[in-house]
Amino acid sequence: MESQHKIDTLIEIARQKSTRAQAFYCDDDVFALDMQKVVTRKWLLVDHVSRIPEPGQFFLYEVGLESIIVIRDNEMKINALFNVCRHRGSLICLEKQGRRNRLTCPYHSWTYRLDGSLQAARFMPEDFNAMEHGLHTCHIRVYHGFIFLNLSPEEEPEFDQEFAVFEPHLDFHGFADAKIAHKQSYPTDANWKLVVENFFECYHCTAAHPEYCSRHLRDALIAIGAGPNSGPTDAVKRFAPVLEEWEKQAAELGRPMGAVDDDEHSAHMKFYQQRPHRSDIKSETQDGQPVACLMGKRTGFDHGRMHLSFSPFNQIIACNDFAALIVFTPRSAMRTDVDISWLVDGQADAVDVDRMIWMWDITTRQDKIITENNQRGILSSRYQPGCLSNQERRVQTFNQWYLNQLTL
Ligand code: FES
Ligand SMILES: [Fe+2]
Repeated sequence: MESQHKIDTLIEIARQKSTRAQAFYCDDDVFALDMQKVVTRKWLLVDHVSRIPEPGQFFLYEVGLESIIVIRDNEMKINALFNVCRHRGSLICLEKQGRRNRLTCPYHSWTYRLDGSLQAARFMPEDFNAMEHGLHTCHIRVYHGFIFLNLSPEEEPEFDQEFAVFEPHLDFHGFADAKIAHKQSYPTDANWKLVVENFFECYHCTAAHPEYCSRHLRDALIAIGAGPNSGPTDAVKRFAPVLEEWEKQAAELGRPMGAVDDDEHSAHMKFYQQRPHRSDIKSETQDGQPVACLMGKRTGFDHGRMHLSFSPFNQIIACNDFAALIVFTPRSAMRTDVDISWLVDGQADAVDVDRMIWMWDITTRQDKIITENNQRGILSSRYQPGCLSNQERRVQTFNQWYLNQLTL
């Protein structure tokens, strides 16, 4: 009850002053509220199906205090099961990933099938009904090769209509038939909202990301670095003819056009934007040369990139020959998992991993450092939310969206 009073007070502070007050970045009660009001209600993109191509292969998706087993069964269906034994509650899978014919609890050996139903439990009373003791299931959708989970104990939220706007883009990029070429984790000691805010602006790019900036037109970063028309008017105006010319050429090569920039009242704050790299760069590699064949339905290199986000918890950034799927997973008040899966076309030969990951590996390491420094500064007694620049519009939108989630 005391904690509810505290939360009400915090929401009032957020409404009147700022959702960027210190407690929102470090308080355990706020984190519990974030889990309940935001994380649990959203469709969370957790990885690509090619991570578990064979029957019995699984990985764990761990968010907050929850652990979900994402496993492919013998009928090739992917199931999502809470990693909580129905006997006395032990975790069942302890490894982060692997392959199992059955799921056997390490405590007293209750054994479950790959669809979560209970197969065997020793020495149980006669009236024990195994049918009533299957693992709790988690809502799951597979869409264009991406696995989405929703942890709500109630009915799953609407999916098809919510994400239909992405259909032509996902189809063009060929994600359904893509495969993971490499995975890497960047666990970050910071609240999930700091990780997201950092990704929602490019105000920090010139100072923090020289490699990233070297791939892009300066005007593009200023004009639309944080979303369509997010920069100052003169920069937007300067970049408009360049963007228009590139869009014309890219459309001729079959790329579907359009942008998505959901506002603070949306369910998932979706985002989609496309723009050119520097004109001498074919791919987001150090030498600008591709590492793999063209992805999806492309017929030629168009020097472009796309940035797609199903919610603030994930980002897909694709050039013509590979894509980085970046997943942000809240773990505790001051800890966020950041995981990247690099995807290439399903038909691609073995790729040079170092060349492929160069950009997002360096950039994510840099983001980890600046975000952890941000967290440490916020913990000071002298921290108070500052004024945002005109290159941080999406941070403002995100703060408002977050508050709307808490008060829904
Ligand atoms: S807690 Fe799993 S078998 Fe006992
Ligand atoms: Fe960054």
